[in-house]
Amino acid sequence: MPALSPSALRPVSTTPRPVALSATLAVNEALARRARAGLPVLPLGFGEAGIPIHPALITSLSEAADRGAYGPVAGSDELREAVAGYWTRRGLPTTPDRIVAGPGSKPLLFALLLALGGAVAVPAPSWVSYAAQAALLDHEAVMIATPPGEGGVPSPALLADACVRARAAGRPLHAVVVTLPDNPTGTLASTGTIQKLCEVARDNDLVIISDEIYRDLLHDPAQTVPSPALWAPERTVVSTALSKNLAAGGWRLGVVRLPEGPFGARLRDSLTGIASEIWSSAPAPVQHAAAFAFGEPPELVERIDLSRRLHASVVRAVADRFTAAGAKVPRPRGGFYLYPDLAPLGDRLRADHGVTTGAELTGLLLERYGVGVLPGSAFGDAPEALRMRVAPSLLYGADDEQRLAALESRDPASLPWIAAALDRLSEVLSDLTRDALEPLSEVC
Ligand SMILES: Cc1ncc(COP(=O)(O)O)c(C=O)c1O
Repeated sequence: MPALSPSALRPVSTTPRPVALSATLAVNEALARRARAGLPVLPLGFGEAGIPIHPALITSLSEAADRGAYGPVAGSDELREAVAGYWTRRGLPTTPDRIVAGPGSKPLLFALLLALGGAVAVPAPSWVSYAAQAALLDHEAVMIATPPGEGGVPSPALLADACVRARAAGRPLHAVVVTLPDNPTGTLASTGTIQKLCEVARDNDLVIISDEIYRDLLHDPAQTVPSPALWAPERTVVSTALSKNLAAGGWRLGVVRLPEGPFGARLRDSLTGIASEIWSSAPAPVQHAAAFAFGEPPELVERIDLSRRLHASVVRAVADRFTAAGAKVPRPRGGFYLYPDLAPLGDRLRADHGVTTGAELTGLLLERYGVGVLPGSAFGDAPEALRMRVAPSLLYGADDEQRLAALESRDPASLPWIAAALDRLSEVLSDLTRDALEPLSEVC
């Protein structure tokens, strides 16, 4: 073929829709640049579970590596039966026809927002992608403050007010999202709050989307998640995935449990229609491994128990370091995040560093100390809030050997690599709030 002459090329005038890189991925890239330049880093920004894939899952995935066909849009019978059993064992009786699987819960949530249409209420703060997905669909995301200490759920009273205002403005809310337990705060809403939320949802005809991806990582194994599906089964969609409890985010497998009754059936048709036009089906070999996982064999139950213990222990150790430095930290109850508030140190931070916003604070932590955390504003907090999301799971180890040791340890915070990172954090926090700045030793 003859070479194309440059004069044959014409500039393309179409402007692609500008979409910012998710804040989590952006901080990761900044840290990677610093690490490549040989500068110290403390990666506390990325929401990855930080533990290896269990060998039994790898075996199950390989067993199905020869499955090349697309398969049913909603997911294989084998997977949907296993997922129905998983939710039934959690007090939510479920039949397989109410399950839809997809390549991660993120695209399933996007498809749900697309199917439901209209404005959606989301907690402030909340996981970065709810509002971002609504914006991609040109749907309004109404951010609603959470009750104190109960992240992941819009205050029911404020939600009721927002419904009235939205109706008056001619843009009624169609849905509300809750995260149980929560990302970014690590807290868990109370049963009473969820029951009130269900009443408000019923009074205002809202669909409830209950993101329960961290459900199995509640730090206290005796505690249970107050799923709105218990009190509003006709209007609650529940989602989960393999990404957090089994650290298989890269395998891209999520599932939703649709409501009972005629609305659930209509939503299933809409969701599978959308899925058929976008991803066709979740990857067949991964569905096989997911069916194994949702069947909850003893070795995976044990693995989740160990990860719960590890997350709880390290999150608490990090929370203690922030508390010792003068921050306020709502007690994390599940998952692997904490959400310290540095407001008590606000005067000092303004006087010494000119910091007046959460983004300036996290920018300073990144540029000066190589500490990667996300400002509360990335989750819908007010810009001046000095809150940040801290995700310590990448401290578990630099390789699988260290990560497995962390998983097996009764006191992971005392392992040398985790203890060094915790000490570095304390050093940074005390330096940040000290009058005269002295250079820090470069420890990690
Ligand atoms: C609250 C919450 N929901 C959903 C997701 C999406 O997970 P996935 O698409 O891997 O299922 C995440 C991932 O960070 C999350 O934190």
